[in-house]
Amino acid sequence: MNVHDRRKLVAGNWKMNGSLAQLKELAAIAEAARAAASVDVAVCPPFTLISAAVTRAGGVPVGAQDCHARGSGAHTGCVSVAMLKEAGAKLVIVGHSERRADQHETDAEVRAKAEAALAGGLTTIVCVGESEAEREAGRHVEVVAAQLAGSLPDHWSGGELVVAYEPIWAIGTGRTATPYDVADMHHAIRAALTARFGDAGGRIRILYGGSVKAENAAELFAVDDVDGALVGGASLTAAQFVPIIQAAAGA
Ligand code: 13P
Repeated sequence: MNVHDRRKLVAGNWKMNGSLAQLKELAAIAEAARAAASVDVAVCPPFTLISAAVTRAGGVPVGAQDCHARGSGAHTGCVSVAMLKEAGAKLVIVGHSERRADQHETDAEVRAKAEAALAGGLTTIVCVGESEAEREAGRHVEVVAAQLAGSLPDHWSGGELVVAYEPIWAIGTGRTATPYDVADMHHAIRAALTARFGDAGGRIRILYGGSVKAENAAELFAVDDVDGALVGGASLTAAQFVPIIQAAAGA
């Protein structure tokens, strides 16, 4: 498949940040999203802000940062796919490295969440990425391949599957992987996806995440097989997020 057939997706992951007051940022983000007609934009605030964000986002899809694999039940503190949908969510991030570390989520759990989210019709962003020690040991491609093998469902229908490559050492550190490193890893991910899913693997969007900012976005979006970005800190304000959306539109 031709790279130009995959629209770029710029998704903001607010992590445990934001407030009702901060939803005012969504007006300018929505305006930029409308102007960047060739780009898909999404924002993933904390669970508590999803409903309010939907009403303020002017049609920009709003997502969650996690979901439970089960539909309902005795799982205190967890949120199901059906609940997210009722709140108006159109997408969900699963397997973020912060959840893999803080909540000890395994590949198998991430896969179960991805299966539930896709079956529910949500666009599902599955995150993978190596630690600094794994990269220094030259194991980064092997580690990410294993995460993909364990975290992605074999079959899905309903929602769209998206992969986000987020090297852990680049998250929130101001250190970005070089375009060379990103190209190398995204090619490896693309090869793994097409080996596993055939033509469907060529249609899966692969996002880069890790200290994406206005200053480095254009350079990253120019890399082959970079189909957008998952943006943390720089998605919290329109002033920082809008230039990234514009860079994707110009790519
Ligand atoms: P930063 O953009 O803050 O480095 O976060 C990246 C990330 O983890 C997005 O999911």
